[in-house]
Amino acid sequence: MRTIRNLHEMRAYSRQARRAGSTLGFVPTMGALHEGHLSLVRQSVARCNVTVASIFINPAQFGENEDLAVYPVDLENDRDLLKRAGADVLFLPTAADIYPPGFKTHVTVSDVTARLCGKSRPMFFRGVITVVLKLLNIVEPDTAFFGEKDRQQLEVVKTMVRDLNLDVAIASGPIVREADGLAMSSRNRYLSEADRVSALCLSRALSAASQRVRAGEVTAENLRREMLGIIQKEGRAEVDYISVCDPRSFEEKETIGDEALIALAVKIGGTRLIDNCIVGGKKK
Ligand code: PAF
Repeated sequence: MRTIRNLHEMRAYSRQARRAGSTLGFVPTMGALHEGHLSLVRQSVARCNVTVASIFINPAQFGENEDLAVYPVDLENDRDLLKRAGADVLFLPTAADIYPPGFKTHVTVSDVTARLCGKSRPMFFRGVITVVLKLLNIVEPDTAFFGEKDRQQLEVVKTMVRDLNLDVAIASGPIVREADGLAMSSRNRYLSEADRVSALCLSRALSAASQRVRAGEVTAENLRREMLGIIQKEGRAEVDYISVCDPRSFEEKETIGDEALIALAVKIGGTRLIDNCIVGGKKK
């Protein structure tokens, strides 16, 4: 696996690969890789001739009081995991190259970013979309892969790609869970032993809600109430949002209808975790 740090070298590599007839898959990450990332890399390896994964901890998507300064870094392990998953290139741009002095342009997607994570983290999607657009412009992939754990991010990226007529396909991979149900996340590394146990309240609440929908519950408020009850039993948990909403607009629903997204953001001992699932008749 080759490591490329320079933006021009990255673009030259991609163009050369495409001139040679290869299709290019791209998995953008912030590192501290886990099975969720690696499943996207494997999907790219299966579908594309060349797979590029990037690691860039993007300062623009962290708010003032968030965890940028302590975000986990594990480059040697990440490199090893990517190599074993079959990635061809690790792209490692520097913050100075991505945001050179005088950088003034930011991209915003309206409406779909006004709810859920966008509401609690006002600068988050502006930072994500700006860096994703830059990375897509540099790597020029045929297909870029995003995880469904960040379902709102996935939808916002798709909206940006559609609205700006970008020539890239967006593919997604399902949430990968630990054996006990906890959704894999780089931030799980922050959890103490006690937090780790409490963190199971997210997947427990989602399972209870899905089960209730399967049993015939259609009223969104009843699901929200049940999930709140499950989470509030955990002393270490602080709810940011519990949402039963449309999976594309993220507007809150009154009834489940054909399909609904159930999404949660909960702080466990100070670590903000998110999780979600799709419920309803049309469930994929
Ligand atoms: O999902 C992430 O890890 C990040 O938001 C992304 C897409 C790599 C942009 O920094």
